[in-house]
Amino acid sequence: MLLIGAGAATDLSPFDPAHVQIVQGFYPDHQALKARGHDVVTEASGAFDGAVVFLPRARAEARARIAEAAARLAPGASLWIDGQKTDGVDAVLKEMRGLAAVDEVQSRAHGKIFRVTLPEPGWLPEGWAAQDHLAAPGMVTRPGVFSADGPDPASQALAAALPEKLPTRIVDLGAGWGWLSAQILKHPGVEMLHLVEADAAALDCARRNVTDPRVRFHWADALDFRLPEPVNGVVMNPPFHEGRAADPKLGAGFIRAAAGLLTGAGRLWMVANRHLPYEQALRECFAEVSELGGDSRFKILTASGARRAAAGRPQAKGPQSRGRRR
Ligand SMILES: C[S@@+](CC[C@H](N)C(=O)[O-])C[C@H]1O[C@@H](n2cnc3c(N)ncnc32)[C@H](O)[C@@H]1O
Repeated sequence: MLLIGAGAATDLSPFDPAHVQIVQGFYPDHQALKARGHDVVTEASGAFDGAVVFLPRARAEARARIAEAAARLAPGASLWIDGQKTDGVDAVLKEMRGLAAVDEVQSRAHGKIFRVTLPEPGWLPEGWAAQDHLAAPGMVTRPGVFSADGPDPASQALAAALPEKLPTRIVDLGAGWGWLSAQILKHPGVEMLHLVEADAAALDCARRNVTDPRVRFHWADALDFRLPEPVNGVVMNPPFHEGRAADPKLGAGFIRAAAGLLTGAGRLWMVANRHLPYEQALRECFAEVSELGGDSRFKILTASGARRAAAGRPQAKGPQSRGRRR
């Protein structure tokens, strides 16, 4: 069986790990599943007898997952689609009923699962497979990556607030498809820029979008990312959502991670939604904190004097949610 989008919190007890391949590109979920003995990949390979697609929220990404599964199955095979109402499972069910034979529809709480019997090839509409989208001049994105339609307004506000000269060694924590990194590289002073990103699809886009030789790419969890040598700058637009709910703990974890990466004289620049309370975490981790500017939606914060003792991974949480963090 091929399972596309199963996360660390997905109940996989009915499946025998010896007969399952899981496609999961979000690093913390990928690693957690691997640690439990699963065969986990970022892209499916080979042929399968059946598949389960776990629906993401973005419609284009849901279609891309269905197309990825269909490409690995023979006509007559079963493709199960599992999703929450909030992920649009009802709309997907309706759409699939118009394309193929659908049965075994089961509803539980706020979700549904149903089976699609694969027709002969050619049944899926054109354009369902993941395709490049030109999100900025010379920069591509893929369905489901953060801010796939174009540069994020918060990142634009942060880029506009950066000082002309930047430190020599910088980390972009949660670098997405690389737009902010590309802006950082335009500033004088930068000798090395590390892009750290958990979403493999976003990082693949960044590799294509930011081809500067000063750049290093890291598919990693920002919360425990470490470099052999500290850097003197961190720039970040941290994720603020876990699934649907705003979760300031995530941003606070990024702040602790940033402090752990910086020299004492190094500086952090970050953007946050105005309503998110990051100042306390910043004061715990840095000696000097100030607001550089912003507007009614965002605030640009800067901090220096990292207190290494306060930095580090936040308290261990339960299993990661399967919702991606933004
Ligand atoms: C608000 S977005 C900013 C993206 C990018 N810097 C930009 O300006 O468009 C936050 C990014 O953090 C990534 N992310 C979420 N959790 C992460 C984690 N634990 N480690 C590394 N990256 C993570 C998300 O995939 C997303 O690309």
